[in-house]
Amino acid sequence: MPFWETVLGALVVALLGGLYLSGFFRKRRPKEPPLDKGLIPWLGHALHFRNDNVDFLQTMQKKHGDIFTSLIAGQYFTFLMDPLSFGAIVKEARAKLDFISFASQLVLKVFKFESSEMTHKIIDTSSTKNLKGDGLVVMTQAMMDGLQMVLLHCHGSSKGEKSWKQDGLFHFCYNTVFRAGYLALYGNEPTQGGKEEEKARQQDLNHTEEVYVEFRKYDKLFPRFSYSLLTLAERIQVKKLWNYFWDVLSMKNVYQKDNISRWISDQGQQLAESGVPEHMQDRFMFLLLWAAQGNTGPASFWLLVYLMKNPKAMEEVKKEIEEVVQNSGQEAASKEKLLNVTKEMLSQTPILDSTVEETLRMATAPMLIRLVMEDMDIKLSNGRSYMLRKGDKIGLFPYLSAHMDPEIHHEPHVFKYDRFLSQNGNKKEFYKNGEKVKYFTMPWGAGTSICPGRFFATNEIKLFAFLILTYFDVELINQEEEVPPINKTRYGFGVMQPSWDIQFRYRYRF
Ligand code: HEM
Repeated sequence: MPFWETVLGALVVALLGGLYLSGFFRKRRPKEPPLDKGLIPWLGHALHFRNDNVDFLQTMQKKHGDIFTSLIAGQYFTFLMDPLSFGAIVKEARAKLDFISFASQLVLKVFKFESSEMTHKIIDTSSTKNLKGDGLVVMTQAMMDGLQMVLLHCHGSSKGEKSWKQDGLFHFCYNTVFRAGYLALYGNEPTQGGKEEEKARQQDLNHTEEVYVEFRKYDKLFPRFSYSLLTLAERIQVKKLWNYFWDVLSMKNVYQKDNISRWISDQGQQLAESGVPEHMQDRFMFLLLWAAQGNTGPASFWLLVYLMKNPKAMEEVKKEIEEVVQNSGQEAASKEKLLNVTKEMLSQTPILDSTVEETLRMATAPMLIRLVMEDMDIKLSNGRSYMLRKGDKIGLFPYLSAHMDPEIHHEPHVFKYDRFLSQNGNKKEFYKNGEKVKYFTMPWGAGTSICPGRFFATNEIKLFAFLILTYFDVELINQEEEVPPINKTRYGFGVMQPSWDIQFRYRYRF
């Protein structure tokens, strides 16, 4: 065979092979959901999906209905949009729908950490022990101490200064909650060995500010990094940031601190006992920092901005907080004794609970993904069954399907602080098509991948509200300014961030 014919033949075979592998020839089988591969081989709908999850899913839902399979960057994703059918996915056994395999790929890419069934178990065991029940009492107290330090010694005034200070509200909330949470989890400078307390505190404040600044650099790159969209310079920056965090959070450095949380030390110890190499343990610590600290700061921002834009909500929440403080026998204005808000006090706040739930409904948009482990059937609430194909992924996006569904939540784009307030002691119920909706909000995910830090996270946000509203006067610089819109590039990654910051001023009250 002449040379050029051989080359051409090889090229055609390679092209066909490539197209085959990219799923180009895939056809919809009987009982499978509608299949939409888009126009571009391999990429499929990747660009639309990355640019705006909501717009992509709405467009597809209009075209195909409540379930459809789309090609996205060489992978087939089936999206289920009907919240009444979510149980079929989140309750399914891991042997059929697995979340670890998909999460592991992402974790390896963005944290260079090789996660496994075992590491998931370690997180699970330690979180049950340390972020719930008695463990939660300890963690709530640690967060309280962290917040007191950051709010009163850094943003407030230990010298009795009462003048207004101005800041970006998002920056202020994220910075405060991040630094306090970091101290609660990873401990603080030891004060033994003759080191004065004030000096150690100053070191903690300087260190947490530095870690926050580095964390935000990574945080901003994160969505594009997970979609493999970084430039060369940004990839170099990521490597520098990895090295920084792997060093700062290395077990040998963390063990130098006082008051390390049991949540952190237990997990470090279990990894070591399981034979995980030291450099992997350090990487795991950065993964934990990311999971624990990337959401509560932004959530606290949304809570405060919504309260500031809704005077009635602000008034009701403040009144409730004042009552709880009074009932605890404490006095906020006391110069001698700082306010101590306990887990017990945080369980007496139905109005704040509803306000936090409403905030998370409006500002939290995780994407839940499971890998289909074997060909299987799922039955939807309308009685129809669909086949899922082994190797595909199935995705739920509760932000669109439940949080923003006007049938479930009337006027979903309006902040209503009392939307979740139980009436006559009964938990509020939500309906769609006359049927009760179990998954009416899912800020924490659901099923086997549900956030193990959800109780602690809620307490962090509530503590922040308690302290900020008790100790400070807060107001927007421009009272007419609207709540900034969500930054759409972060859909799928937990709590959303605003497209831009909003200026406010604050003043220590007492
Ligand atoms: C408002 C705050 C928070 C939100 C909205 C949130 C949300 C979530 C969601 C949706 C997931 C599961 C993602 C999936 O299905 O794959 C998750 C996982 C996780 N969260 Fe949270 N989270 C928050 C705060 C926290 C805090 C404070 C901690 C710990 C102190 C924490 C620890 C974790 C961990 C370790 C995982 C991974 C679990 C695993 O893979 O086994 N989260 N979070």
